[in-house]
Amino acid sequence: MNRVSEEKSVRALLKSGIARLREAQVPSYTLAAELLLLHVLSRDRTWIYSHPEEEISAGDAERFAALIRRRAAGEPTQHLTGKQEFWGLEFEVTRDVLIPRPETEHVIEVALDRLAIRERRAGRPQKTDGDGLRVADIGTGSGCIAIALAKELPAATFVATDISAAALAVAGRNAARHNLADRVRFIEAHLLEGSGEWRVASGERKPPGGRISFDLIVSNPPYVGRREAGTLMREVREHEPGIALYGGEEGYELYADLIAQAAKHLLPGGILVLELGHNSLPAVQPLLDASGWTKVGVTNDLAGIPRVLAAEKA
Ligand SMILES: C[S@@+](CC[C@H](N)C(=O)[O-])C[C@H]1O[C@@H](n2cnc3c(N)ncnc32)[C@H](O)[C@@H]1O
Repeated sequence: MNRVSEEKSVRALLKSGIARLREAQVPSYTLAAELLLLHVLSRDRTWIYSHPEEEISAGDAERFAALIRRRAAGEPTQHLTGKQEFWGLEFEVTRDVLIPRPETEHVIEVALDRLAIRERRAGRPQKTDGDGLRVADIGTGSGCIAIALAKELPAATFVATDISAAALAVAGRNAARHNLADRVRFIEAHLLEGSGEWRVASGERKPPGGRISFDLIVSNPPYVGRREAGTLMREVREHEPGIALYGGEEGYELYADLIAQAAKHLLPGGILVLELGHNSLPAVQPLLDASGWTKVGVTNDLAGIPRVLAAEKA
């Protein structure tokens, strides 16, 4: 019998799960074991720590042991629990989408700050509900950026694209889970390509030439270099989708096309907010040339890495 499932109290199971993950050199092994036990028992952390002597059924103990084995073998915790929190909201995650990362919350912060500044400049109250705003999220994955922004801007409408139909299926379920299915339209596309052909719902702004125009475009594109693949943790390299990770041999290859398309699709004064890879800034910032863009700004993440690049269309 497996060592983890031999002992049956909450405390004993948790202790043995932690020990097994530690032995396997799993990062944040205590948190991972806790999350897996919470998942199996459908309980919260307070319950676990206030019921250390509670006996766990043999079935639950075996399920926990199986998850610990899979985590020790490298599967991300979020693939085992099927969820990840982002911007205080819970998102379904599967092997088809990138697991939302905490640093991506800076994209939300910068987008909201930029919108607030624009409102102030226009002499309106800083806090906007997004009335009349059209927002595009390129490479939406789980839908986390579009959905978090849609919660913050309850009167704005959203288009979210992805090249992966499987990712869009997950994003659609996340929008439904957060009651946003009517405000976020998911489209399978390379970046924003083909927006002239997208079915135009009433009220959408479509200038002559047929393109849909946006007030805000956000994106966390794939930005890892294939040549860096060997430096990724095995949880990432072996379990997250390559299409979500790799932007090309160097990593930053997709930004040129992305910025060119954003320039075509943003209204004058429209805002672009991009997440950057750890070494993307020198290659990407020069793409925001002075003839097309103003108010270019860089925001560092908590580790001091330039993580978000933002600008306004001139
Ligand atoms: C780094 S993930 C970001 C996912 C999500 N926005 C997030 O922040 O967690 C990049 C996403 O872009 C999508 N993608 C890759 N190439 C694309 C392309 N050419 N056009 C549209 N989406 C693309 C991937 O499928 C993936 O879902």
